[in-house]
Amino acid sequence: EPVSLLLSPARMGRLELRNRVTVSPMCMYSAKNGLANDFHLAHYGAFALGGAGLILLEATAVTPEGRISPGDLGLWADEQIGPLGHITDFVHRFGGKAGIQLAHAGRKASTHLPGKGQGALSVAAGGWETLAPSALPYAAHYPHPREMTLEEIAAVPGQFAAAARRAEMAGFDAAELHAAHGYLLHQFLSPLSNQRTDAYGGSFENRTRLLLETVRAVREVWPMHLPLLVRISATDWVEGAGWDLEQSVALARLLAYEGVDVMDVSSGGLAQEQRITVGPLYQVPFAREVRARTPEMQTMAVGLIETADQAEALLQEGQADFVALGRAMLRDPHWPQRAAHELGVTPGCLSRMSALAGNASFMP
Ligand code: FNR
Repeated sequence: EPVSLLLSPARMGRLELRNRVTVSPMCMYSAKNGLANDFHLAHYGAFALGGAGLILLEATAVTPEGRISPGDLGLWADEQIGPLGHITDFVHRFGGKAGIQLAHAGRKASTHLPGKGQGALSVAAGGWETLAPSALPYAAHYPHPREMTLEEIAAVPGQFAAAARRAEMAGFDAAELHAAHGYLLHQFLSPLSNQRTDAYGGSFENRTRLLLETVRAVREVWPMHLPLLVRISATDWVEGAGWDLEQSVALARLLAYEGVDVMDVSSGGLAQEQRITVGPLYQVPFAREVRARTPEMQTMAVGLIETADQAEALLQEGQADFVALGRAMLRDPHWPQRAAHELGVTPGCLSRMSALAGNASFMP
């Protein structure tokens, strides 16, 4: 029988996972007041039954004004812990691990629910004032943010840390900071959105300051035996400007030093003028570069990884330590079970579902 890296147990930091398949965080816009409900239990529970090693829950706001939309999950209040705890319990019972993606949308906050409109949600329609490093909107039809004061910036690390503490109480096994896709922490990294002239803008050191302060604050409360991930956009995809791969590699070294276990390598989402060539595995080269040049950091590849063969091959080639799948998982929450079938491996690590599906010799 072939040996699969994809479906073999693996360590992320000090956490043992049943395999290297991660469900990529995906907003479901289905919460009210940031609270998880039965939808989220069924949705994320399905991935546990499907055999994923790590299930990363969607962007979860650390403050109410950090929500992308009124339907986002939140962890800014203690009452939000309980419903998430049901989900982590369920995931654990079926052999999976659960991670939370902690997020603040910054200038991309206060937008419509998908299908209910585009761009800014007006205050009259339930929207709110948005905050950003500089008073620059993401797009003309997006909210026009207010430049954050130094006091407001100083509060951010503590907001993430408080949410991380609640995530631990909810039973999460991993925490990911969302510093990608043009949200607040990415807005500080990129000179296209950060035009501050104080200690938080200008040089690489200044632009990375808030993320590093946030990582330090979170690592202080997030247990050392549980992995901390940071999702970044490796490039803004703006020729000759913005955040890019070289800065990402430099950042990876700093993050590893601060105790970040995994860099989850995505791209784009910051600038309207981005020019992306999208195709199968299109972001994998960024993960490969970070991994090759930052041996002390594990990496996760994401972006149009769709088939078991693609995922297995990129792991075998050493391009990443873990794969994250988004839309393929929405289409088929049992993707790992199907991958086991297609790769012809006996997934000792998968649940009973696997045996019933004929992937393993069933020993009752
Ligand atoms: C996303 N994506 C995303 N990314 C993230 O870091 N936090 C999030 O909350 C979301 N939300 C989200 C919702 C939906 C409906 C989609 C389709 C995507 C991006 C996602 O995690 C992933 O990086 C991309 O979809 C690319 O991977 P796939 O889908 O090609 O496997």
